[in-house]
Amino acid sequence: MEKVRIDRRKFIALAAGTTAVAGIAGYSLSDTENYIRSDSTDEPGRTPLSPDERAILYLASLAPSGHNTQPWFVNYVEPYHWIIGNDSTKWLPGVDPTQRETILSIGAFLQNLECAAGNLGYDCDFVLLATGNEAENVVEVKLVKALPRIYDVEKIRQRRTVRSDYRAEVLKKEDVKSLIGDDSEYVHFIPNTAMQSPWLNEQTIEANRIQSYRDTAQKELSEWIRFSSQDAEKYRDGLTTSSMEIDGIPGWFLRNFYGKADVMKKAFREQSIDKVIQQVAQSAGWILITSKDDSVGSLLETGKRMERLFLSVREKYIAIHPMTQILEEPSTRQMMVGFMGISQPIQFILRVGYLDTYPDPVSLRRPVGSFLRV
Ligand SMILES: Cc1cc2nc3c(=O)[nH]c(=O)nc-3n(C[C@H](O)[C@H](O)[C@H](O)COP(=O)(O)O)c2cc1C
Repeated sequence: MEKVRIDRRKFIALAAGTTAVAGIAGYSLSDTENYIRSDSTDEPGRTPLSPDERAILYLASLAPSGHNTQPWFVNYVEPYHWIIGNDSTKWLPGVDPTQRETILSIGAFLQNLECAAGNLGYDCDFVLLATGNEAENVVEVKLVKALPRIYDVEKIRQRRTVRSDYRAEVLKKEDVKSLIGDDSEYVHFIPNTAMQSPWLNEQTIEANRIQSYRDTAQKELSEWIRFSSQDAEKYRDGLTTSSMEIDGIPGWFLRNFYGKADVMKKAFREQSIDKVIQQVAQSAGWILITSKDDSVGSLLETGKRMERLFLSVREKYIAIHPMTQILEEPSTRQMMVGFMGISQPIQFILRVGYLDTYPDPVSLRRPVGSFLRV
């Protein structure tokens, strides 16, 4: 027991220099990551889905979601006719008590679904069913045969959140222009040279500090970290050492010796805050995404808009890191409304920056069969 405690303390020192120690050999090479995503174990014969339907829903499920809860389900009505639902067992009441982020994530799922369906030659007829964020049935979708709208689905497969090793240089004008596109009413770029940028850095650190010491939020986070490879394999959702970008020996140590209780300890909370301090110090700036209002329809549209942006950045070597804590903590949220002078509700705060090398996706996904309700 004592030995483990000493080792844990050692981890703190190791984790501080993650990259420095990442190359040291000698730890179990059979356990360098816990990445399970391929849907090869999905047993296609056990669902009524056609190959096209399966392919579309698998790609939809590669959408981002807060803590990677994957809060969607799909009610199968008949072939090519589904109801996209909101799975209340995946809610995050500690950081998202109004299910705002849940609906944004479902919006991202719908965007992937639409791109994947279009590429296979289906138009999506969406009908909004939900009148509030808690409604179980969110959107009805019918896929209608149409001319294919060619979309490179590799963009969906390769999209990922990147949190480390950003270059500090500001985004090129042409890149900003293409990221914003026709969405200038809702997408706002704040370069790291603008006076709002250091404010966002500081408030992000502050909000993370508040949240790390708010036990309900921290306990909830602990429920969604899959430290061990067994848990990653069993749940196929949540955050892993790889997706949190804790690699090398510190990652191995966490996978093998850490559990939920450790997340509540001061050392883990402080480590997380230190990581945020490092992250905000390196970026090209921030993108804020606003919405017309807070209705379910507007939140879904905003989730879709965010995903379209996310899908377009990899080819430009631009990383995106959603950092939503300012919006999740009432005190910082209140200040943001006053400081930014943006009249529309702010729904996303995204850190952005150029990368030298773009890492492959590593976050877990549940198999299609497990979120399909027949
Ligand atoms: C609504 C929403 C909020 C998020 N908030 C955060 C956040 O505060 N911090 C963070 O590191 N990642 C955040 N993320 C990113 C998710 O953790 C990430 O999408 C998830 O782990 C899956 O990983 P992937 O994007 O690489 O597929 C958020 C994503 C969404 C959609």
